[in-house]
Amino acid sequence: MNIHDEMILILDFGSQTTQLIARRIREQKVYCEIHPFSVDIEKITALKPKGIVLSGGPSSVYDRDAPVSDSALFELGIPVLGICYGAQLMVQQLGGGVEKASKREFGKADLQVKVTDGLFAGLETDYFKHQVWMSHGDRVERMPPGFAATAISENSPFAAFRHMKRPLVGVQFHPEVAHTLIGNDVLRNFIFGICSCSPKWTMHSFIESNVEAIRRKVGDAKVICALSGGVDSSVTAAIVHRAIGEQLTCIYVNNGLMRSGESESILRFFREKSKLKVIDVDAEDFFLSELQGIIDPEIKRKRIGLGFIKIFEDEASKLGDVDYLAQGTLYPDVIESVSFRGEAPIKSHHNVGGLPEVMKLDLIEPLRELFKDEVRELGLELGLPEEAIYRQPFPGPGLGIRIMGEITSERLEILRKADVIVLEEMKKSGYYRKVWQSFAVLLPIQTVGVMGDFRTYENVIAIRAVDSKDAMTADWSRLPYEILQIISGRIINEVRGVNRVVYDISSKPPATIEWE
Ligand code: XMP
Repeated sequence: MNIHDEMILILDFGSQTTQLIARRIREQKVYCEIHPFSVDIEKITALKPKGIVLSGGPSSVYDRDAPVSDSALFELGIPVLGICYGAQLMVQQLGGGVEKASKREFGKADLQVKVTDGLFAGLETDYFKHQVWMSHGDRVERMPPGFAATAISENSPFAAFRHMKRPLVGVQFHPEVAHTLIGNDVLRNFIFGICSCSPKWTMHSFIESNVEAIRRKVGDAKVICALSGGVDSSVTAAIVHRAIGEQLTCIYVNNGLMRSGESESILRFFREKSKLKVIDVDAEDFFLSELQGIIDPEIKRKRIGLGFIKIFEDEASKLGDVDYLAQGTLYPDVIESVSFRGEAPIKSHHNVGGLPEVMKLDLIEPLRELFKDEVRELGLELGLPEEAIYRQPFPGPGLGIRIMGEITSERLEILRKADVIVLEEMKKSGYYRKVWQSFAVLLPIQTVGVMGDFRTYENVIAIRAVDSKDAMTADWSRLPYEILQIISGRIINEVRGVNRVVYDISSKPPATIEWE
């Protein structure tokens, strides 16, 4: 079975919610891909989409350098749904009128459905009944020839519209966001009603087709994979192992910067339950000596990253001929999204990204079509334990970037003990899975305290807990005071060398999630 033969193509005009459109469509078990708006018409035809979605975007269609797609895409006979900017572009390219609105329409609006087939099949037509979410400064003023309105809002007589004969539809609101209460109905009507897709993109079918593809690609060659204990590398290893069994060897590098018990459970699972071959390298001393005296966060990150590559390469070379490296790249890293902001890297991230160039191995990236939530679903389907699947993200440089200043084994010991308490209490209270990340940071600056009758002069632990959707932005979690109180009390009582606990109340931006 080819799970990609019914695909929805999303053309990205730079909206912050383009990825959400893709996720909403995939939640309906229909495969979709995001491509830049500028993709040429030959490529579109070659992809054979069952439908095309034009995303929103920050531009105005009448800007001189406004992003436009080839208008020939409206002539292919393939259904097209324009969203916000995408809808306005459709109007403009097909001969209607779009103008700057006197008032920007932003936030919730009430929609009245006028035509209850097509996009609004099954929805009621009561007076301004449906809450939708708008975000635009332009208005559609005039329909192109052959088009008519299908819904109105208080601010717009053309809040949604369609061509009377061809499968071209547009909405000025954003069906992909949660505030649009009828958003899923609208997307479902588009993909199933108008595009005639069927719901066959399931993790079960994904496994079947990928296992086949990996076997075909690898033949009898050898594959290696860096196992970190995190979700992505665990799921990558599990699916590659399902495909080629013994031909896969995983390498787990203990850099001495892991949390207490961090990776043992996942290693145990792989070794005992799934009979995966794992080489477990204890490189703690090597990393600690590499990091001795280093204070600068960027140098720390670089040393940890390079050290990892060195150890990994050494181990891999002992295996003899290896042809492939399996890697847990996810879809958000693959999408060539249209970014209208020039973004400079803030921190040099360490993951296995540098390995393929150094080792000159071909890549196997079984997750490159998946979003994080799909990876979790896949992991469960492959039988990984829930604990491994719902693990919070943990950075490649580990505790190394959670100790300010020099990393020493004493400091690591203090931080590990404090961190165990944070995690225990977060799990006990049910907040572990409610927040994006929660952890302890060691500030090796001494402050004065009093314990019993004695003056103390010891370290500070900062607690960081954040809410986020994708780590690009984050806000500090409003944890109940009771949980903070328990965590603080336990750390000060149970961890020697700490006499003060503080809570980090900075959002990202301007702070970052990790402290270094
Ligand atoms: P920041 O601190 O940049 O972190 O706000 C954003 C997210 O990325 C994680 N992080 C890393 N992950 N290698 C990784 O694999 C790294 O070098 C790294 N640095 C930060 C961080 O935990 C958060 O989830």
